[in-house]
Amino acid sequence: MLELAGLSKRYGEVVALDQLSMTARPGRLLGFLGPNGAGKSTAMRAVFGLVRLDSGTVRWRGAPITGPVRRRFGYMPEQRGLYPRMPIGEQLRYIGELQGLSAAGARSAAMAWLEELGLAERAEDPLRELSHGNQQRIQLAAALVHDPEVLVLDEPLNGLDPIGVADLGRVIRVRAEAGATVVLSSHQLDLVEEMCDDVVIIAGGRDRLAGDLAAIRADHPHREVQVRLAGGLTPEVPPGCALLSSTNGVVRLRVPADTDPTQLSAELGQQAPVERFRFEPPSLEEIFRATVGASVAELEASDAGEVT
Ligand SMILES: Nc1ncnc2c1ncn2[C@@H]1O[C@H](COP(=O)(O)OP(=O)(O)OP(=O)(O)O)[C@@H](O)[C@H]1O
Ligand SMILES: [Mg+2]
Repeated sequence: MLELAGLSKRYGEVVALDQLSMTARPGRLLGFLGPNGAGKSTAMRAVFGLVRLDSGTVRWRGAPITGPVRRRFGYMPEQRGLYPRMPIGEQLRYIGELQGLSAAGARSAAMAWLEELGLAERAEDPLRELSHGNQQRIQLAAALVHDPEVLVLDEPLNGLDPIGVADLGRVIRVRAEAGATVVLSSHQLDLVEEMCDDVVIIAGGRDRLAGDLAAIRADHPHREVQVRLAGGLTPEVPPGCALLSSTNGVVRLRVPADTDPTQLSAELGQQAPVERFRFEPPSLEEIFRATVGASVAELEASDAGEVT
């Protein structure tokens, strides 16, 4: 397990991390979420000893992380860190050797990753001549070239087209399924919902919600209903339900989790024929909004408390 315990870091007046604790497990893909400025990149940098923490510990398999252990980790930083002028094949070989591979091992790993990512014929091209999405593929390959047991990826899917997202998402998913411990930060909550086993949501430098994503959704006290009535009619909102949105004839309702979907659908059907009815646990986006909203309210309350 990769364990971050009680991490705190201030930059002057700015609190970047405030007693942040979280755990990532082998064979699991962890979505690391939080609003801009929440402290995600700072926490990820701390795993690599790139932040001078005020307090807290980072441990892998119960022990502090030393240089040789860290070589078994792969990191895709937020500020991408490769050499723009170096040919991509040479670059991956070089990084592989830095991470402890033999010359021959680094050469074959670099070639294998270029093949995997569909860039083999570009091996001699400098990084800067590649498109943004292809540069991102090389950044991911650089993090993966030595087959790390821990992968920390800071917004790896940012700015990719849907095919790039699917390709890189699959590559990352496969690493987790092969047993790696993978932490991925992202603002694309629909993707995280599709890909990740676990989530941690942080705000104001502190962990606010963590756990198995399916369990978090199932245990939620609400369900989300999507309904479309014939003619796009907006239904009367049944008692105990809240209207979330109404767009193009599709109405979203929030209902208590113990609502009987068959009965609700029948009730709505008395107003007009039901053309679409979906009854699901709340989306990750809804859970994120609720979690972050509650922590903002809490922060404001504690700020007000300090003034009085
Ligand atoms: N080197 C630094 N010097 C000063 N302040 C910093 C530094 N690094 C981070 N911060 C501040 O710490 C806070 C957390 O930043 P961090 O980059 O970790 O957030 P983040 O969750 O990664 O945000 P984003 O989603 O925008 O990438 C922010 O207020 C940021 O301005
Ligand atoms: Mg960041």
